[in-house]
Amino acid sequence: MNAQETSLNLKEAFKGKFLIGAAMNAYQIMGKDTAATNIIKKQFNAIVAENCMKSERIHPREDKFDFSLADKFVQFGTDNNLVVTGHTLIWHSQAPDWFFVDDAGKMVSKETLIARMKNHIQTIVTRYKGKIKGWDVVNEAINDDGTYRNSKFYQIIGEDYIKLAFQFAREADPDAELYYNDYSMSIPAKRNGVVAMVKKLQKQGITIDAIGMQSHLGLDNPDIKDFEASLEAFSSLGCKVMITEMDISILPFPDKNAGAEVTKSFEYKQQMDPYRESVPDSVTTAFEQRYLSFFKLFEKHEKAVTRVTLWGVTDANSWKNNWPVPGRKDYPLLFSRNYAPKPIVDKIIKQTLSE
Ligand code: XIL
Repeated sequence: MNAQETSLNLKEAFKGKFLIGAAMNAYQIMGKDTAATNIIKKQFNAIVAENCMKSERIHPREDKFDFSLADKFVQFGTDNNLVVTGHTLIWHSQAPDWFFVDDAGKMVSKETLIARMKNHIQTIVTRYKGKIKGWDVVNEAINDDGTYRNSKFYQIIGEDYIKLAFQFAREADPDAELYYNDYSMSIPAKRNGVVAMVKKLQKQGITIDAIGMQSHLGLDNPDIKDFEASLEAFSSLGCKVMITEMDISILPFPDKNAGAEVTKSFEYKQQMDPYRESVPDSVTTAFEQRYLSFFKLFEKHEKAVTRVTLWGVTDANSWKNNWPVPGRKDYPLLFSRNYAPKPIVDKIIKQTLSE
């Protein structure tokens, strides 16, 4: 490895293999964190919005869309030649209450919810037509045991809401890629549930361009073999696979069943927050090994994997500092709290160049 090669950045290192992306928060989108946006411009070639396109933000009332941040986000992508992903159209979390109830606060009918879904999806997808490469159309519809999540969409419409969401999005922008996205995708029962759902949709004529594996990982969980089995199962459906929200937490996890369910929260305890001052070398080594193993796996499957996106830029703003336990200090990303690339960045680059 010569010095020139090691000065490469991530997007150059993965050129021809897969896109490498980052999630952007509101400060970055508003141009208030230029140190972070400079990292994005230099290192990444894909972006996704961490929150501003979620239904409660972009569609706070039935008669009011708020595109202010989303427009800026998409513009940032266009200006900097980045591949833009839309996250997310239909999701049970961070959805506004009005979506599911009438003026009297009663649950709406199936017809009304379908009409609202259609308006929501088509207004947003149409606005960004040609500017957004692909959409997380449905997020987190399957439980860890493989059954359908009993969300309001499911309760009111039944499993057809998933098919309808894809149809509405396809109608609005036939050229956009459409994705199904979920967490804890390594769990065999969940993998099987997602596979069964996708097969059923495919039989009904729905094309799912890619399956997104969120990949909020821990040091020990999940087993990378289970992760690989899921990646292979999804790709054998004829779908591309995207790693959509990667981070690797080094902190203890209070409940192995929490997955990445954002509605869960656990009480703060000091023993759950062990690295406030510093991270022991042994933990840093384990963290680096884990990142290297996963990137090695993505490269092994580079024909299937079209994008790897990190859920944030620096540790300072990672959602993992506040989930599943609020107020902790985690170190899950590739750039440190002072905006420096961690040593793992160079190691990932060297690993990919040596293959
Ligand atoms: C998270 C954001 O990072 C947080 O800022 C927000 O408070 C909650 O949602 N799965 C997803 C993402 O699909 O949208 C979630 O993002 C993390 C889990």
